[in-house]
Amino acid sequence: MITLTINGKDVSWDLDPETPLLWALRDQEHLTGTKFGCGIAQCGACTVMLNGMPRRSCVTPISTLEGADVTTIEGMEGAEFDAVQQAWQGLDVPQCGWCQSGQIMSATGLLQFNAAPSDDDIDNVMAGNVCRCATYVRIRQAIHDAAKTLEG
Ligand code: FES
Ligand code: FES
Repeated sequence: MITLTINGKDVSWDLDPETPLLWALRDQEHLTGTKFGCGIAQCGACTVMLNGMPRRSCVTPISTLEGADVTTIEGMEGAEFDAVQQAWQGLDVPQCGWCQSGQIMSATGLLQFNAAPSDDDIDNVMAGNVCRCATYVRIRQAIHDAAKTLEG
């Protein structure tokens, strides 16, 4: 039995300890905002916050999560997340949307640790989030816009 917190709610899972967090979130909790892309930590579609840091849920076995605090896209809140959401909407960033939960999680994580990222900072942090629709230019601009909003 694994007990942890998902989006502020205590949950217990009686699952194979090697089950990836991604599948426990989607199949047990029906939190389908976190997407499956590659399954091997290469695309970023499955990114969640684990104890406040972006983490690839497809390669995170639930056996490592006793007592952990996980936040999915459905449970995100706070100034950085709000600014990112607003900027994403303002620029109409998504195309098909497949990668966008993961992009938003990584962008929010970036702004929480770097309030005024440069293009290079953005490219470095976001390099692990792949977009098959190639929305990278709008993603980068949206992160700059969100940083400006946060600056006030
Ligand atoms: S599905 Fe996890 S990084 Fe691609
Ligand atoms: S919006 Fe389609 S994969 Fe990124």
